Amino acid sequence: MAEQRATAAGGMETSYGFRNVEDGDKQPLVDAVFHKVANRYDLMNDLMSGGLHRLWKDAMVAWLNPPRRAGWHGLDVAGGTGDIAFRIVEASAGLAAATVLDINGSMLAVGQERARKRRLDGNVDFVEANAECLPFGDETFDAYTIAFGIRNVPHIDTALAEAFRVLKPGGRFLCLEFSEVEMPLLDKVYEAWSFRAIPQIGKAVTGDGEPYSYLVESIRKFPNQSNFADMIRRAGFERVAWRNYSGGIAALHSGWKL
Ligand SMILES: C[S@@+](CC[C@H](N)C(=O)[O-])C[C@H]1O[C@@H](n2cnc3c(N)ncnc32)[C@H](O)[C@@H]1O
Repeated sequence: MAEQRATAAGGMETSYGFRNVEDGDKQPLVDAVFHKVANRYDLMNDLMSGGLHRLWKDAMVAWLNPPRRAGWHGLDVAGGTGDIAFRIVEASAGLAAATVLDINGSMLAVGQERARKRRLDGNVDFVEANAECLPFGDETFDAYTIAFGIRNVPHIDTALAEAFRVLKPGGRFLCLEFSEVEMPLLDKVYEAWSFRAIPQIGKAVTGDGEPYSYLVESIRKFPNQSNFADMIRRAGFERVAWRNYSGGIAALHSGWKL
């Protein structure tokens, strides 16, 4: 695959999948994708990952280890249909609060309905806003999480600076994202699955393969584990570390505001 990954020096702001776009044009294109896929988003996640996304999300919240105490408040950015926020509340035995923030009202509407059905709407609130400009004061949250979201945000450095700003001192940053596969045979299988099968499955299930081509291409463009760790450090986070899942198909980056 000829397309090169973006690096810590940038590149994601003007790449919509493998297409180069003007700075400022990426976000509306991304928004159109998620408006289209919102209603089938959770089903497609299971089909595309064979259910693995559930295990990776469980691992994320296990590493976060939210305390069983009222008053603890997590912000889940690009939180979409609520998977991470729900897990946080459940892991805290129903004591923590979580805010799901997403730029896309269609994704949030699905999330709100799911929260209501799970009776989690007392602990979880939903905010429609941009990760690049968070509508919260400085030092508001105990943790900032973002799962499979950051590669869709055009200006990643701005989003990371905002994460740092809204966290309390001692707050935790965790980012789950597709990353660089580090196992020689798996990378070939994964590439074939991603570029051949996923858009076809998307087309069969939703009638339109294009949004899934974007999702796959954006995964291939995202900076690898160590470059992304550099970006997190540059935003001011300390003790930055990551764990690979499934050979690096996904990676979970952690940092602290100390
Ligand atoms: C792949 S989904 C991830 C949803 C959820 N976190 C999960 O893991 O299932 C990516 C989400 O990022 C959101 N998003 C894209 N750009 C954003 C931005 N600038 N600010 C906030 N959310 C954004 C999309 O609307 C979409 O809901």
